Amino acid sequence: MRSPRWLRTRKPTAEELIPPRKALPKEARYAKMRDFRQAGVRFLDTAKAKGLEPHDRVLDLGSGPGRFAVALAGFLDDDGSYVGLDTSKPVIDVGNEWIASKLPNFEFVWADVFNASYNRKASEKAAAYRFPFDDASFDFVFSNSLFTHLVPDDASSYLHEIGRVLKDGGRTLNTIFLLNEQSVGAIEGEDSRHYAPHPLGDVARAKRADRPEAWIAFDEAFVRDAHAQADLQIEEIRYGSWSGREPTGPGFGTKDIIVATKP
Ligand SMILES: C[S@@+](CC[C@H](N)C(=O)[O-])C[C@H]1O[C@@H](n2cnc3c(N)ncnc32)[C@H](O)[C@@H]1O
Repeated sequence: MRSPRWLRTRKPTAEELIPPRKALPKEARYAKMRDFRQAGVRFLDTAKAKGLEPHDRVLDLGSGPGRFAVALAGFLDDDGSYVGLDTSKPVIDVGNEWIASKLPNFEFVWADVFNASYNRKASEKAAAYRFPFDDASFDFVFSNSLFTHLVPDDASSYLHEIGRVLKDGGRTLNTIFLLNEQSVGAIEGEDSRHYAPHPLGDVARAKRADRPEAWIAFDEAFVRDAHAQADLQIEEIRYGSWSGREPTGPGFGTKDIIVATKP
């Protein structure tokens, strides 16, 4: 859908882009509860600190209705562009209607793959899904709260796809829950907020056996190995406060943040 002429002459403000609360589907409750704009600004500040540039082509995996997109609209220049990919059709529709229709270099693309929490009817597994983008076509791949909802095979496959679509020298920043010596000890016991008693193979743990995608944490060794297999070199891990530890550096949210590059 092409934007009206008056909008093409200047960039829309964040207020003009943010979908109204009543337009957000129930899957996007998190965006209703928290400040849509402020969350995006925090994502952007961290992404900039990790090398995001205004001319970058950005892929936002598990984009939701576009909290990062709205912040990027004020940062990317005319050479930059944004693609949001999500398995929930309603959030993709909202992103296209309220955000991409007003910005020529922005789009939201539906990934019709199975997720027990967000797209139950799909038959294709995320593990078998090839992103609908060319090799080496993005400078920066971002995700917030996506890997926390992917089972291990899906997570390895998504990292492989990130490695495929990133240009050489491109970067990826993803949030995740990492199981390591500190976090495993801290979340043991039923009174822990993040008690996750259900093993997924020997590489991850879930809170719920019936719907593991609701909350998944991964062994750090598995995640490091999956990055290496995907030709992604981990540059930095910022351990967040989710397990009760002090965060090891700046970032956003309480999850762990992994920054990696494609050499
Ligand atoms: C907690 S939401 C976070 C949304 C967004 N990143 C934000 O912070 O506003 C997780 C999103 O991941 C999407 N998702 C889950 N599984 C997915 C998959 N296999 N591929 C793409 N998106 C997925 C969900 O539909 C949901 O919109």
